[in-house]
Amino acid sequence: MKILAFETTCDETSAAVMAGQVLRSNTVFSQIKLHRKYSGVVPELASRAHLEKIPFVLAGALGAAGFRLPLKRGAVDAVAFSRGPGLPGALLVGRVAAEAAAELSGAPLIGVNHLEGHLLACEFDKGRAVRRLEFPLLALIVSGGHTEIWHARGYGDYRVMGRTRDDAAGEAFDKVAKLLGLSYPGGPEVEKWARRASGKGPDFPRPFMPGTWDFSFSGLKTAVSYYLAKKAGGDARSLPDGEKALVCRAFQAAVVETLVKKAADAARSLGLRRIAVGGGVSSNGALRAAFAGLEGFEVRFSEKAYCSDNAAMVALCALRRLEAGKFVNSLRVSPDLARPGWKSRG
Ligand code: KG4
Ligand code: ZN
Repeated sequence: MKILAFETTCDETSAAVMAGQVLRSNTVFSQIKLHRKYSGVVPELASRAHLEKIPFVLAGALGAAGFRLPLKRGAVDAVAFSRGPGLPGALLVGRVAAEAAAELSGAPLIGVNHLEGHLLACEFDKGRAVRRLEFPLLALIVSGGHTEIWHARGYGDYRVMGRTRDDAAGEAFDKVAKLLGLSYPGGPEVEKWARRASGKGPDFPRPFMPGTWDFSFSGLKTAVSYYLAKKAGGDARSLPDGEKALVCRAFQAAVVETLVKKAADAARSLGLRRIAVGGGVSSNGALRAAFAGLEGFEVRFSEKAYCSDNAAMVALCALRRLEAGKFVNSLRVSPDLARPGWKSRG
């Protein structure tokens, strides 16, 4: 079974080919440079860049997998794309590209949930989808746009237990980095600076929000901004490097402790011993170390290469659906994807 997949939900343009459980190619063009001067993703620029790059990304992915354009009839068995959640214009570019590929190859089109992709990315092992997730498990999705806890009962069978009420975890990293004058995306920068910290620094509150599995990181970001205002007046960029590093370490520790405690408590509440973590923030070393230290749980992460947005995970979602042979398919793009059969709260 050969699957061609597209990913264009945010600021990565990607195409991938899977043959059976083997990832034959995964070409990713990152728009980071384009958005860096705005310290965040500008939706209109993102859509245009997807449109401009997708023919090259597709040609790259097909070439690396041993195919050529134009795609021949029967060349692939299915064409998949992320239909949401994501930026509306960006999503449409992926769908139109997928439609064209489906038309040329005569293969069926499958719309997949980008967030499920982040979860299933945990199955890749050096380019082969052989580390199958064992269900049931507790899924923690932590990206630039989403922070969610799911009770995952099987492929495509997920109940959303909690989600962020304001800033996603990655967004909080990006905003704190901006306050400190660090570059975009903020997550890897904050992690790098936190590693350099030494000595005693500030301590920020942990937004545990007892009584709900939802998250809220905007208060933590405000606590950082008040601390910076007090320490450095109007310009946090003038803060000495040592102090910046201490702020990064303290902020990162607050986010990590919150994510780990809430995920572990949610898993315990359901009697689950397995946790899988996906999304851009899951490449954070402090988060990985904290989960590794959690006793009594088997915790899975994806390889770092598949934490941020990519089409390999989209192909894998389609493959698992096709293997199961039963799924509700929808091709409508949906910026805030409503999940059929999913409850928003448990
Ligand atoms: O999953 P992703 O690539 O895109 C979305 O679906 O949003 O996640 C991007 C987010 C950004 O906010 C970025 O700052 C964050 O993931 N991120 C990190 C790290 N690497 C990326 N956050 C913390 N630590 C990291 N090492
Ligand atoms: Zn993502």
